[in-house]
Amino acid sequence: MKLIKRLCGILTTTLIVNSLAACNVNVNVGNKNTYIKEIKIGVTLYKQDDVFVSTITKNLEEIAKEKENEGKYKIIINIVDAKGSLINQSNQVDKFVAQNYDVICVNMVDRTAASMIIDKAKSANIPVVFFNREPVEEDMERWNKLYYVGAQAEQSGELQAGIIMNAYEKDNRIVDKNGDGKIQYVMLEGEPGHQDALIRTEYCIKTLTQKGIELEKLADDTANWQNAQANTKMTQWIKNFGNKIEVVFCNNDDMALGAIQALENSGLTEKPLVVGIDGLPKALEAVKNGLMIGTIINDSKKQASAIFNIAYTLATNGDVNSVEGLEKGKYIKTPHTQVTSENVDLYLENKK
Ligand code: GAL
Ligand code: CA
Repeated sequence: MKLIKRLCGILTTTLIVNSLAACNVNVNVGNKNTYIKEIKIGVTLYKQDDVFVSTITKNLEEIAKEKENEGKYKIIINIVDAKGSLINQSNQVDKFVAQNYDVICVNMVDRTAASMIIDKAKSANIPVVFFNREPVEEDMERWNKLYYVGAQAEQSGELQAGIIMNAYEKDNRIVDKNGDGKIQYVMLEGEPGHQDALIRTEYCIKTLTQKGIELEKLADDTANWQNAQANTKMTQWIKNFGNKIEVVFCNNDDMALGAIQALENSGLTEKPLVVGIDGLPKALEAVKNGLMIGTIINDSKKQASAIFNIAYTLATNGDVNSVEGLEKGKYIKTPHTQVTSENVDLYLENKK
């Protein structure tokens, strides 16, 4: 390791990109050509084409660029796609370890399989920031250099229920279209076993029933967070239940958008209310256009900055306990906000 560090000084910048961490390098930052330190952050994604996950990484890259422009460090963020394969992800972590990255950020393909990644990182003494797909607590306890950044899943389910509850209280016939005193619903769920899917479903239904609203489940199934799968499921449910469906609860917006497409293609006269989670720009537009009753902002900016703050602090030998929002020394879970036609303009403005 000592030899490696000494070698750093004589390597060219190009070589360093593929080799060693925390070296002094001669680089262009802004317009200045300065001699600064380089930090390397590796990021492996469960699937790059997941719309919400890709918004986190876009924000992460922007935040890193801004920080780099301060001129203290050259910041390399290397984002790789595991394409849904744990084997790919494991190989990617091996590469980050071999190339001496300072921190590895992992969006687990299978959140129950974190121990394998943890063992590799621990033996190389490289801290890991898990995000969006939470390892089980037992794995998070395996080492004191493990972190997790995600969202307050319970709250997203409660707020989603709140959108329907408010509509019901305002005018129950907007929701309970057939006036039988119950809400007939279908539920599109995220990946089975994903903490956000399980918790959102549970808390959404629990919140409504605790408020005394009677629910009748017509159908529920996973569409794995995906637009196309949700479209297929919804098309089938429209065939099975037609105008009976009063609410479509969706664990995320991309599935809600798929369901909306199916509804648009169906020619149904009485369209159900559709509600999602994430606050994707397309979903905000759907709220604005009245195709969706509401969504819940899953704060990808706050999550990206939490991931970055932890990674940067670790890579620069700072005090990680001083990172804003860190709980129990390892968790940051961001809060959500509710969006309906009443406040959507505020968020559409922010997206510009
Ligand atoms: C959730 C998000 C989903 C999907 C999933 C992937 O938090 O709401 O849209 O991106 O993470 O793990
Ligand atoms: Ca009803």
